[in-house]
Amino acid sequence: MGGGESCVVERRDVTMKISYHGHSVVRIETNGKTILIDPFITGNTTTDLNAADVKADVILLTHGHGDHVGDTVEIAKRNNALVVATFELATYLSWQGVETFGMNIGGAREFDFGTVKFTQAFHSSGFVTDDKQIIYLGMPTGILFTAEGKTIYHAGDTGLFSDMKLIGERHNIDVAFLPIGDSFTMGPEDAAVAAEWLGAKLVVPIHYNTFPPIAQDPERFVSLLPPGVGRALKPGESIEL
Ligand code: NI
Ligand code: MN
Repeated sequence: MGGGESCVVERRDVTMKISYHGHSVVRIETNGKTILIDPFITGNTTTDLNAADVKADVILLTHGHGDHVGDTVEIAKRNNALVVATFELATYLSWQGVETFGMNIGGAREFDFGTVKFTQAFHSSGFVTDDKQIIYLGMPTGILFTAEGKTIYHAGDTGLFSDMKLIGERHNIDVAFLPIGDSFTMGPEDAAVAAEWLGAKLVVPIHYNTFPPIAQDPERFVSLLPPGVGRALKPGESIEL
């Protein structure tokens, strides 16, 4: 045994490893499964991942925008991964040969990798095609993921809404991933209010610095939160629960 610390500090068993990969990409490893949320990798200026070799058993999507669906079809096909999203988005992706499970806001389902519950998000969720059409892909969502007694909330893209208080009351959130980029979602000040309402033990900023309109200083956001609550993760950094 190396240093003395490991002799005196009793180490809890790690049941979940959660890593941030730039923009809104979050990877959860638990129960031997890898779950990717919003795997936008190709064109993501902040990610440390390569779309060609990323592994996933499951992909969870918050909404149909390109900076969230990203490389989903390619990753899902290569890994035989299940894609879980709102009904319309799941249906649209199933037409591209991906195995999907469609759900909707307020609904929860227990899968073998954990429980997924979709929450509301105030945003939009259309897919803009190259030939100037917009395909309706259902409502945008946030995602509550629970496994091994730990709950992760990924807010997706959203403005601040007061029912975040309800989400916080109804769920014991261990880690919340909140957008801070402004322009398209909450900015840092609104996200700090969201953090308070959600009552999450740890809050990690997402959806910033990928493109000029969402340039933000994540440490300034962290400074708006009570000490110890906020943590800006660099792409590739992880938290163990
Ligand atoms: Ni969006
Ligand atoms: Mn977005």
